[in-house]
Amino acid sequence: MTEVETVQDEQSPYARVGGGAAVRVVVDRFYELVIGDPTLAPYFVDSDLTNLKRHQVQLISHLLGGPVTYAGRELRDAHAGLAITPEAYGRVVEHLVGVLVDAGVPDDIIASLGGTLEAVQPDIVSQQS
Ligand code: HEM
Repeated sequence: MTEVETVQDEQSPYARVGGGAAVRVVVDRFYELVIGDPTLAPYFVDSDLTNLKRHQVQLISHLLGGPVTYAGRELRDAHAGLAITPEAYGRVVEHLVGVLVDAGVPDDIIASLGGTLEAVQPDIVSQQS
């Protein structure tokens, strides 16, 4: 194995996707789709989108192994009382994965993030449809 390949292999997923600038592009596009989705928009009417996006960028950056601290609330606290259904949860995940695919994020990184999103579902969904 050449040295270049070794360095490449050691890059964090965060570095591989293009770092903070790339994560911000993904998160901006993600919330455009979410807010543009009539089944999801009502959940966000009272939200401070600037703050929400900033925290989402931090969370995704952290999950990708970037040198970033997540400063938002626990996911269970942030979503409590929003009466989020499994269907709404599924649509949000679909939008996020779609944006990651469109951005050219490698499959292994999407699979690993997807695993984390699945694991936090019980913290987010609070209402059966
Ligand atoms: C799929 C996994 C999800 C993740 C990783 C996630 C992550 C986050 C994060 C990091 C925040 C910011 C918390 C803060 O600022 O303290 C947040 C807030 C929020 N999320 Fe999610 N979320 C997910 C799914 C959903 C779903 C399915 C909905 C609704 C359909 C939703 C609706 C909201 C709303 C409305 C807020 C803002 C709450 C407020 O302004 O008080 N989220 N989410």
